[in-house]
Amino acid sequence: MRHLPDSNCISLRRNCFGRKSSQTQGKKKEKDKRFRIHNCLMSKYELPPLPYSYDALEPHIDAKTMEIHYTKHHQTYTNNLNAALEKCPQDVQNKDITEILSDLGSVPNDLRSAVNFNGGGFDNHRIFWNNLKPNGGGDPQGSIAEAINNSFGTFSAFKEKFTTSTVGIQGSGWGWLVFDPKSNKVDYKSMPNQTSPRTENLVPLLGCDVWEHAYYLKYQNKRPDYVNAWWNLINWEDVNNRYAKSK
Ligand SMILES: [Fe+2]
Repeated sequence: MRHLPDSNCISLRRNCFGRKSSQTQGKKKEKDKRFRIHNCLMSKYELPPLPYSYDALEPHIDAKTMEIHYTKHHQTYTNNLNAALEKCPQDVQNKDITEILSDLGSVPNDLRSAVNFNGGGFDNHRIFWNNLKPNGGGDPQGSIAEAINNSFGTFSAFKEKFTTSTVGIQGSGWGWLVFDPKSNKVDYKSMPNQTSPRTENLVPLLGCDVWEHAYYLKYQNKRPDYVNAWWNLINWEDVNNRYAKSK
């Protein structure tokens, strides 16, 4: 697994599968690296780093859920995104996934659903991990605090809106704090399944994953308890950084 920051995950070159070599492992790796530089065209996404250990968010999110969520679910979205992009035209392959999600019309009809679902799953989760940290939570500070107050009146009002609406999502989906470039304001937006807010030209800042795979081992059917616990983990510095870059 290669570890990269979430804003820098797409510039890997596709591995050249199936090439045989009688060289030692070290020389083989060096040869493959040259192939990646010179011979391969499509970027291949890899699972981005988890910025803390599996048990770091205990007791709010348990270690087993984190491990499965990251190594199985996020890995599967990543693999399936690569598989879908391999079938796409080169002009789509050459784009960043955030650009593709913002312009799904550029993806061929028969691949659009797979790119939407798995590209959203890849992007949503790399935001989700970095939105959280051990001993997070509390009230936001800085620019994002001002933006939230401007849109919702108070942080308490925003928290109430976010919690109620996200708990109420039917089936699987995400609750998001987004930046809307049209209004130049932040807003709340719920999205179904793995569909990214980017598909509606909104910039995702803070997301709460309410798929059952995110909480069921610890919370079972008690989604409200999970969402309330999630607030104790928010990395407001990360949200502030995303907000600063979104404008
Ligand atoms: Fe998830």
